[in-house]
Amino acid sequence: MTVKIYETQAVQDFLNSISGFDQEGGSERAKKIMHRFLSDLFKLIDDFDVTQEEYWTAVNLLNALGSQTQFGLLSPGLGFDHYLDMRQDAIDAEAKRTGSTPRTIEGPLYVAGAPEAEGFARLDDGSDLDAETMWLTGQVRDIDGTPIPGAKVEIWHCNSKGNYSFFDPTQSEYNMRRTIYADSEGRYTARSIIPSGYGVPEGAPTDVVLKALGRHGERPAHIHYFISAPDYQHLTTQINLAGDPYTFDDFAFATREELVIEGKHIESVAEAEKRGLEGPFTEVIFDIELAKTESADLQVRHKRARAKEDEQDAASQLASTAKV
Ligand code: DHB
Ligand code: FE
Repeated sequence: MTVKIYETQAVQDFLNSISGFDQEGGSERAKKIMHRFLSDLFKLIDDFDVTQEEYWTAVNLLNALGSQTQFGLLSPGLGFDHYLDMRQDAIDAEAKRTGSTPRTIEGPLYVAGAPEAEGFARLDDGSDLDAETMWLTGQVRDIDGTPIPGAKVEIWHCNSKGNYSFFDPTQSEYNMRRTIYADSEGRYTARSIIPSGYGVPEGAPTDVVLKALGRHGERPAHIHYFISAPDYQHLTTQINLAGDPYTFDDFAFATREELVIEGKHIESVAEAEKRGLEGPFTEVIFDIELAKTESADLQVRHKRARAKEDEQDAASQLASTAKV
């Protein structure tokens, strides 16, 4: 087919009209972005001779993704989360905010409001009997090496089947989700279990998109972190446990060389007893360096829709109102 209409005045006028350029109200930024977005898609339809059937298949897929709230899952798979990280890295480099532990994507499975503890917390509820015990510890420091006592360390990860509590209703509330405030030396310690890798649910709309690209939906075993402290830049990151077949083949593009950590398997009874453990365990050590910033916006995680986050906002607003 050789029909090409994109460049015609009629189509260009049409795009201006769809984008509200001839209307008073609305947002200028929304209009400009929508105009670019629709123009690129209209051109794509012209260039690839997209058929009616292909177009409506795509609409159907978008409906399926939306109705199963899977856009947050597909987004890392299509590289948007990592691309936004690459941009933030470049923004930080330009502002000379460098030297901290590298960031990597948050993923879609955080739940706000996990129980809080000082220095130490057990993350798992003890029900995952197939799992190996993990002793996860580290120190939060300034990029100069000065410890940051009281730093807030939020940790979340999945179980030995690759499932996250809350999204997996068979698990107890906040299983493998805790907030630990670092001790007087900036140290945090968590007892938990070694998580397994994670896979996008088979046959789900996200899986349909990835399969069409000849790709898999697997992530290596990983542990998520939010780390923050007053006067420091909030850090969203993850560690990947070394030795997973997907460590360097992550469908969500979250792996960074500096964040791959080799767990140390320890059989010694004395070492186990020192930590109050009953048997062999794997120790994972992850020290974190934060960059200083005076910007209040950079000291907190960016806004996005998160499970239970609104309730938390409402609860903290209520608490601050109650104090007045
Ligand atoms: C996805 C799942 C994760 O556990 C994660 O960390 C990142 C992405 C996902 O399903 O897209
Ligand atoms: Fe994850």
